Amino acid sequence: MDAIRIRGGATLKGHVRISGSKNAALPILCATLLSDGESRLRNVPALRDIDTTAALLRFLGRGVDVRAPEVVVTAGSNVRPEAPYELVKQMRASVMVLGPLVARFGRAKVSLPGGCAIGARPIDQHLKGLEAMGCTIRLERGYVIAEGPGGGGRLKGAEVYFDMPTVTGTENIMMAAALAKGRSTLLNCAREPEVEELGRILNKMGAEVDGAGTDVIHITGSERGELAPFDHAIIADRIEAGTYMVAGAMTEGGDVTLEGAVLEDLEALVAKMRLAGVEVASEGQNVRVRRNGPLRAVNVTTGPHPGFPTDMQAQFMVLMCLAKGESVISETIFENRFMHVPELQRMGASIALRGNTAVVQGVDRLYGASVMATDLRASASLVIAGLVAEDETELQRVYHIDRGYEHIEQKLRGLGANVERVKGADA
Ligand code: EPU
Repeated sequence: MDAIRIRGGATLKGHVRISGSKNAALPILCATLLSDGESRLRNVPALRDIDTTAALLRFLGRGVDVRAPEVVVTAGSNVRPEAPYELVKQMRASVMVLGPLVARFGRAKVSLPGGCAIGARPIDQHLKGLEAMGCTIRLERGYVIAEGPGGGGRLKGAEVYFDMPTVTGTENIMMAAALAKGRSTLLNCAREPEVEELGRILNKMGAEVDGAGTDVIHITGSERGELAPFDHAIIADRIEAGTYMVAGAMTEGGDVTLEGAVLEDLEALVAKMRLAGVEVASEGQNVRVRRNGPLRAVNVTTGPHPGFPTDMQAQFMVLMCLAKGESVISETIFENRFMHVPELQRMGASIALRGNTAVVQGVDRLYGASVMATDLRASASLVIAGLVAEDETELQRVYHIDRGYEHIEQKLRGLGANVERVKGADA
């Protein structure tokens, strides 16, 4: 397996183009199951999670042509409404085929995803939503077996209250409601920009979705029980943008322009970056990040959007490792999302863990080391640490990075970093 080797010390300067959003593309690919005909997605990033979703759609009987940044999905003649463990275990987001499959075909058999590196991540809210729409749900040998009313009938619009704002849970139920008979009201929904983007797509497909991006979403399902195919360019990836924002701010003199990034999608991060002493400004279609003074320590607590994104917690912690003073970082979304901490400690960071809180004391420098992580964002944080660490850092298990960062080493090199991919170097 590959590794990424970084020689630290370069000050990042220049432009980097932000790719399409992974977490918007995944539900939208699943939404193609709600229609026949040919759907075309543009601005799709070349990522392993996109390939995994394409493989799943093909297994389900769709034709999928992935030529990033375009993906074309066509209906095949055989539908097999079943998502096997081998595919779901590679990517939890696969569970988002459950809502569309049972809404469209009356039944679905989807593997339970199980726990993952960042926490238990149950799907009870997804299942509760489908049950409210008249589904019968059985759990059998690690699979969820869902059936529409009366043994495979059409779902009924319903009121669904989510116990917590869940991103993929909201998306799964939105897709089911788009084909259900009548009106659904979803309460306490996730408000992430990716949920709003899915609402836009469902409207393009002919459903009536109102309120996506707020905590209450009203959906009137299609009269015909089927939606139309679509053509859509996906929004920019706010987490990729945030990651380059932090990378650019790691050294004094850093000056990075994020092409196509949307500042409004990153308000919590931007507010914290500014408090830490980083300049962040909108410039036309771009966002420019500069640092011309020392970093100040700031506290951060992750929360559902518009709170501080858990997907930026690890990267922001690296910034705080070099700030003056003490920073308290609390993780409230996932119970096990501090895997980067022991690796950062090996690089010389001073971090004390107390339950879901990390107390970071800024240090003068980090040191290069051989490191690895078992989660995408933790891996990204270690790359950022490597950019400023003395000597060389080698990040192993690069396949985690490849799930969510398109051409990361080329993009960083374009900003002046000394980064290379080493083929077959992983242990
Ligand atoms: N939860 C439940 N029951 C459910 C659903 C969620 O208890 O049925 C809990 C989770 O365990 C967690 C909280 O609710 O504590 C919120 O989780 P959520 O469901 O929102 O997470 P997700 O939908 O599985 C998406 C992103 C993640 C991102 C989280 C939080 C996608 C494909 N994934 O996951 O992205 O961290 O929202 O913002 O959209 C990543 O890109 O690296 C990534 C992990």
